[in-house]
Amino acid sequence: MAGTGVETEQAGWSSRWAFILAAVGAAVGLGNIWRFPTLAGENGGGAFVLFYILCVIFLGLPLVLSEIVIGRHGRKDAAGSVAKVAQDSGVSTNWAILGGIGIIAAFCILSTYSIIAGWVIYYAGVMGADFFGALFSGDPFASALAGEAPEAIGGRMDSLFANVPLLIVMHTLFMGVTIWIVARGVLSGIEKAATYLMPAFFVLLITITAYGAFTGEFARAVSFLFTPDFSRLTPPIMNQALGQALFSMSLSSAALITYGAYVSRETRLPPVAGMIGLADTGVAIVAGLMIFPIVFAAGLDPAAGATLIFRSLPLAFNAMPAGALIGFLFFVLIFFAALTSSISLLEAVTAWAMRRFAWSRHRAALVAGGAIYAVGALCALSLNVLSDVRLLSFWPSFAEADIMNALDGVVGTILLPVAALLTAIFIGWKADRNLVVAETGLEGGLFALWRFLIAWLCPLAVTLILLFGLFPGLL
Ligand code: PHE
Repeated sequence: MAGTGVETEQAGWSSRWAFILAAVGAAVGLGNIWRFPTLAGENGGGAFVLFYILCVIFLGLPLVLSEIVIGRHGRKDAAGSVAKVAQDSGVSTNWAILGGIGIIAAFCILSTYSIIAGWVIYYAGVMGADFFGALFSGDPFASALAGEAPEAIGGRMDSLFANVPLLIVMHTLFMGVTIWIVARGVLSGIEKAATYLMPAFFVLLITITAYGAFTGEFARAVSFLFTPDFSRLTPPIMNQALGQALFSMSLSSAALITYGAYVSRETRLPPVAGMIGLADTGVAIVAGLMIFPIVFAAGLDPAAGATLIFRSLPLAFNAMPAGALIGFLFFVLIFFAALTSSISLLEAVTAWAMRRFAWSRHRAALVAGGAIYAVGALCALSLNVLSDVRLLSFWPSFAEADIMNALDGVVGTILLPVAALLTAIFIGWKADRNLVVAETGLEGGLFALWRFLIAWLCPLAVTLILLFGLFPGLL
C-alpha cells in the first residue's frame, strides 16, 4: 500500500551486509575525496587530521549508533522515527524537530552536492574522451590532455563555470540518475546500486593509491597528513573539523536514521556503527594518501582549496605516464562515491514526503528530487550570472558567500552541529533508558562509556565548538 507509510515499514535491506554497504556508500562521498583533502590541505595537514579523528571517535561514532537506533526503533523517515521514539519514551513529540532539521539539511546538501558531482561528471567525460582517443590511436599510456598548455588545463574550470548550459546538463544528469534509483525503491534501487558501486569504488581506490605510492611523493604526503602543528588548531578550524566529521559520516542529516529504519530487528548495531565509522575515516585518509603524493610530485600547492582536485590534479595527470587512464578512473571513482551518497540524501527527503503527504514512492522521489534540482540550479547559476548575489550579507560569517557557499556554510557550521546537539540530548537524556539499552544491545561498561559520550561529552563539546567556531571573539 504505497503512500500510507506501510511501505516504509515493510521495505528492508536483504541482509546485514546490504545495510552496511548502503550506509558506507552514504558515508563515503565527495566529503571524503574532495572536502577532506581540501580542508586538510588548507589547514596545514597533521593537526587538523588528528582533531578530525578525535571528533570521529568520541563524537561521531556514538552519534552514528544513536541515529541507527532511532531509525530502527521508529521504522519511519527521520522526523517520524524521532517522534515514535519520543512517544514510546513518554516525552514530547516536538523532538521530531531534530529529524526535521536533518531533512532540511539533506535537502540543502544535495542541492550543492549535485553541482559538484556535475563537475566530476564533466572531468570524467573529458579525461575519458582523452583516454579512449589515445587508446584507439595505439597509446594507452598517454598522459591526460597531452598537448594542452598548463594555463589551458587550469582554465577548463573557469570555462566550465562560465558555461551555464553545460553546468545544468551535468546537474540534470546527476539528479536524474539519483531520482531514478531512489524511485525504484530500497531493495531494487538503493541496495542494488550500493552492491555494484561500492566494490567497484574500493577497487579503484586501491589501484590509484598504489599508483600514487609508486610514482608520487608518498613519504611527503604521509608526513604532511600525520605531522601535527598544533599552532594551527584554532577554534574556527576545530569547528570545521567537527562539521566535516558530521558531514562525512552522514550524521545530522536524516540519512542514517532513514537507512536505520530498514534494518532488521536481529542486527546487532554497535559493530555496524563501528564499521561505518572505520570505513568512512579510512577512506578519507586513504584519499589523502591517494591525492597528496600526486600533488607534491607535480609541485602543486596542497592548500589550493575547493578546486584542488579539479584545477590542480589534471595538471598532474597531464605530466604523468598513463595520466589519461588514471585521471579518467579517478573521476569515475569520485562519481561512484558521490552517487551512493546522493541516493541516501534524496531517500531521506523522499521517505519524509511519502509519509507526510501520503505519496507513492515514485511521486515523492520525483517531487522532492525536482525541488532539490531547482535549488541546485540556483547554485549552478551562483557560479556565474548570480555570482554577485549575497543572501546572507547581514551575517558577518557569511557576508562574502555566494548562494552555493552560503547554503554550504549554514549547513556545515550551524544545521549539522545543532542537529547533532539535539540528537545527543534526546538520546542521552530524554529517550527511555530501557528502549535505548534494548536497541543498542550494549551492556555494562560499554553501555556506560557510550552513554557518557552521548549524554555528556557530545553536548558539551558540540556546544563549545559551535560557539567558539561561530564567534571566535569569545575566547
Ligand atoms: N557523507 C557524504 C560525503 O561524505 C555526504 C552526505 C552527508 C551524505 C549527509 C548523506 C548525508 O560525501
